[in-house]
Amino acid sequence: MIILNSKLQLSAYTDNVRNQHNSIGFVPTMGALHSGHISLVDMAKYQCDKVVCSIFVNPTQFNDLNDLKNYPRTIEVDCQMLEKAGCDAVFIPDVQEMYSTQELELKKQGVEDKSWTEGKDIDFGIIGRVMEGAHRPGHFNGVAQIVSKLFRLVKPDKAYFGQKDFQQLAIIRSMVKQLDMKVEIISCPIIREKNGLAMSSRNERLTPLERERAAIISQTLFQVKELQKQKNITELKDFAENFIKTEPLIQLEYFEISNSETLEPVINYPQANKSAVACIAVKLGGVRLIDNILLY
Ligand code: PAJ
Repeated sequence: MIILNSKLQLSAYTDNVRNQHNSIGFVPTMGALHSGHISLVDMAKYQCDKVVCSIFVNPTQFNDLNDLKNYPRTIEVDCQMLEKAGCDAVFIPDVQEMYSTQELELKKQGVEDKSWTEGKDIDFGIIGRVMEGAHRPGHFNGVAQIVSKLFRLVKPDKAYFGQKDFQQLAIIRSMVKQLDMKVEIISCPIIREKNGLAMSSRNERLTPLERERAAIISQTLFQVKELQKQKNITELKDFAENFIKTEPLIQLEYFEISNSETLEPVINYPQANKSAVACIAVKLGGVRLIDNILLY
């Protein structure tokens, strides 16, 4: 596996792959990798000739400085995991590499780009304003900013994202559409720990007790799915809120049932021919965790 640290190295590598008529599958990450991330690499490997991964803790998507400071960084183990999974190249830039005036220099050297700040100002409409959008101001524009930069550099045929971050997937799809990018976005299922907890780099910051108690997050979602035919929306929401309240270590931030395409709150349920997603965000021991489940 090749390790690339500069944008120039990255675009030279991907240009070369493309010139040899190989397809590129791209998996952007922030590192502290787990089996959820590796499942995306596996899928990319299955569908594409070459797999490129990126590891970059992107400061512009963190609205909480403590969260950025405490975000786990395990770069050596990450590289071992990627190598074992058969990833072909990993891009590990530093912050200056991704956000600096050197970008002008790159332009001179012929690296193709449009506008390096695109993504920062996209209006995602409702998708960007509900749930994570409401609770983490600026987060999704930061995500769009870095992912658009990475897409411009890698120019992947397909890019892989986890359904774990359901709203992020909708944001990326909207960004690709609005910026007329050619990449195909592939959604991959949520990988869970044995107790049902959705795998997340942030789980590393939980104590063993908190990690055990965190199982109630997915249990709430599984129960809601079980009950979806027996209860209306208000009843389902009341049920979820009361169920999660039984765990005193957890504070609920939101529980929403939304249209899985528009992310608008579902009022009458089930809606004809429309699928819904139940999304939850909680705080546990100072760590913010999200999860979701598709209903109908
Ligand atoms: P990160 O949280 O590292 O996640 C990278 C990718 O792994 C995302 O597409 C995420 O949805 C997926 N993923 C995380 N946990 C998963 C799980 N349990 N099962 C399946 N997939 C999972 O998401 C980001 O980084 C960043 O916002 C990024 C897109 C890289 C932009 O900075």
